[in-house]
Amino acid sequence: MSHRTAHRSAILHSIGDPREVGIEASYEYFDDGLLVVENGKILAIGHAETLLGQFQDADLVEYTDTLITSGFIDTHIHYPQVDIIGAYGEQLLEWLETYTFPAERKFESPQHASELAGVFLKELLRNGTTTALVFGSVHKESIDAFFTEAEKLDLRMIAGKVMMDRNAPEYLCDTPESAYSDSKELIERWHGKGRLHYAVTPRFAPTSTPEQLTLAGKLFHEYPGLYMHTHISENKQEIEWVKSLFPERKGYLDVYDHHGLIGERSVFAHGVHLCDEECQRLGETGSAVAFCPTSNLFLGSGLLNLDLLEERGVRVGLGTDVGAGTSFSQLQSLNEAYKVMQLQGKKLDPFKALYLATLGGARSLYLDDRIGNLDPGKDADFVVLDYQATPLISRRMAQASNLTEKLFALMILGDDRAVKATYAAGVCRHRK
Ligand code: GUN
Ligand code: ZN
Repeated sequence: MSHRTAHRSAILHSIGDPREVGIEASYEYFDDGLLVVENGKILAIGHAETLLGQFQDADLVEYTDTLITSGFIDTHIHYPQVDIIGAYGEQLLEWLETYTFPAERKFESPQHASELAGVFLKELLRNGTTTALVFGSVHKESIDAFFTEAEKLDLRMIAGKVMMDRNAPEYLCDTPESAYSDSKELIERWHGKGRLHYAVTPRFAPTSTPEQLTLAGKLFHEYPGLYMHTHISENKQEIEWVKSLFPERKGYLDVYDHHGLIGERSVFAHGVHLCDEECQRLGETGSAVAFCPTSNLFLGSGLLNLDLLEERGVRVGLGTDVGAGTSFSQLQSLNEAYKVMQLQGKKLDPFKALYLATLGGARSLYLDDRIGNLDPGKDADFVVLDYQATPLISRRMAQASNLTEKLFALMILGDDRAVKATYAAGVCRHRK
């Protein structure tokens, strides 16, 4: 007999992009809902009143003053940067030299990698994130350690070894050939194993030679379902540097385009300073951008033009970009995303925000047939949010007169404290 569990709570999930379907048709909400899970997948979702009779055999888990939604998706994060979160005073290029490279050097030790992979995944789960697209370090062992831990928890995770063969300390450089063969070895070992996927991961254009980018592009097309994960147009100095390193290319995106690194499952972090033509090209190729507001504000990089990207058909997900990002919490990312929009005279509707943190991320990763909301058949990756998480949140909720206000207040005031429980493939992996 298969084992069924039914979770009773208010339930909300995103079912469409508000830009395409309007706010009201973008979500489904059950005030007294039931989420039925079997064999790690969602079996049914609906009103408790209707479903309880139908699933009498299920183990019932009842929550009060909570909101269940699908697990958050983080479309850009670095696991070797956990210990440098909140490093003072620098913008991108100096921040990399001063803090990031020394921290990544420590991952030459498999023990360190293994410890940090555990810490990192635990922190994601504490924050309600069930899927992430993750940078490792240049060491292939960093990815073995990461996938080993992710597999133990049966998480849907995407990661890759960093490729960089110039403009970085010697101790962190690979070569075009070793980056290719080490990545290939990791793909053979991990890509498609359980819920794990591999991403070909050139750090960014300045730290790869054209030879390395050529081999990265070749590898990206050698296996079905591979991802390509990099950074683009985050910082003005960085963009000038790319122009001087690749004078023969039209611009930053063209460097990646020329080397066969754009298309479906290509995810570019930041994109804060992309021009209209570049947005157009990203849109027509099915590429995605990871919007990383806490990082963009912390490093003083700039404000993302979300409307332009979406008008040009670019898929957009939400990323924390820890350790340049300042929180693992996608609720906190949404708080900062709201402010990024405010500074441009625009609004971020709470349901659009929910979409970005869940279904929009899944679409950016071409995983919306498996994750991103709570439709029957999808992976049972979900989070239980606590309306009583703190005294202040409690008071604020008492004043909120409808779901929109409650959702918005959770995004502005909430963080890991608002996550009561996190489930992955139907199994509780974090409980407060
Ligand atoms: N660009 C190249 N490497 C990095 C990194 O580690 N973090 C951020 N935010 N941007 C980058
Ligand atoms: Zn990053």
